[in-house]
Amino acid sequence: MNNDLTYTVDLKLSPKDFAVVDLFCGVGGLTRGLIDENLTVSAGIDFDETCEYAYHKNNSTKFVHKDISELSAEELISFYPTGKQRILVGCAPCQPFSNHSNRIRKSRQEKAQLEVQEDKKWKLLYEFLRLIRETNPVIISMENVPQLRNHKVFDDFVAGLKALNYHISDYKTPVFCPDYGVPQKRLRLVLLASKLGPIEMIPAEFDPESYPTVYDVIGEDKLASLVDGEVSAEDPLHRARKLSPINLRRIKSLKQGENWTKLDSDLISPCHKKENGKTFTVAYGRMRWNEQAPTITTHCIGFSNGRFGHPVQNRAISLREAALLQSFPSKYDFIEDTEKMNVGTLARHIGNAVPPKLGAAIARSIKRHIDGYGK
Ligand SMILES: C[S@@+](CC[C@H](N)C(=O)[O-])C[C@H]1O[C@@H](n2cnc3c(N)ncnc32)[C@H](O)[C@@H]1O
Repeated sequence: MNNDLTYTVDLKLSPKDFAVVDLFCGVGGLTRGLIDENLTVSAGIDFDETCEYAYHKNNSTKFVHKDISELSAEELISFYPTGKQRILVGCAPCQPFSNHSNRIRKSRQEKAQLEVQEDKKWKLLYEFLRLIRETNPVIISMENVPQLRNHKVFDDFVAGLKALNYHISDYKTPVFCPDYGVPQKRLRLVLLASKLGPIEMIPAEFDPESYPTVYDVIGEDKLASLVDGEVSAEDPLHRARKLSPINLRRIKSLKQGENWTKLDSDLISPCHKKENGKTFTVAYGRMRWNEQAPTITTHCIGFSNGRFGHPVQNRAISLREAALLQSFPSKYDFIEDTEKMNVGTLARHIGNAVPPKLGAAIARSIKRHIDGYGK
């Protein structure tokens, strides 16, 4: 076991001298992007065993089924090949943000209670920091939702890195995923940190004219057309959820880019007729062919949950379409035994993933940083 907790960094390093361990690896969106850029990922760690098949099958990388809060420094170090410099990456689960916790706090006691609750909610980010402190990786990447910046845990995370003498990238500007070729308007916080010197994300590689669109990845020439409730004979992941009769009427009446606000009043859901439901425009929406998809979430295959209606077919997008809009390769294999497929679990894995193309941009940023160091 390579349990050397303090080591100096050789000036003539190349990306091949490094290995990555991916904390909270899920089905491997981030790992896949790193591997596509030829970084060595020696292990991914996640406590959800339903991620193991896809993670290992598509990336040939060791999957460690473990709760990160129970992972020791020695164990983490053992997942790096001997002699390799350490890169530690992780995308801790994005907890739902409660507006309630952001509202005006009435008393100091109440504020203190909320801070305790917040610490518990974000415990896993503190575990990430603990593992950094105890294993001293040379380079770190942390990805999450941009709202994380509003939370004390994020300030603690940054302060912890500074205390350990890391150089930290500009995390204040959220990363817009289309800038790196992801056909989805996903905004993310990406924080890179390094012991070698200043590190930043590479500049945008696409501009609005060249952003890939929904049509580019799930256009009619790419996938079989489906009706709601149908499963493609070629690909078990290309399956559209059955719609209720009223949802079928709703989607049939909407054009690309429209949502519930364009429905005839007899089709509007009672919750949208209430005063407090009228500002909520994202439900029952159809995507547009010539734009980027909305953020693919864990609810991405439901028509009533967001703008996940197919641009022209009368159904929500399929699991395969969600994966393609997340920039997973078209043959990414998510399930071993289709008989046992749990559609909700797969939608969660796909919606939770770091888009592989964002992972690849993170890898290119890390490689540029290593290559530029000492020169
Ligand atoms: C946002 S997802 C990560 C997605 C992944 N990086 C990817 O690109 O596909 C967060 C992951 O953290 C895992 N997770 C949550 N709590 C955990 C814990 N205590 N220990 C290990 N994994 C955990 C979840 O199972 C989930 O797969």
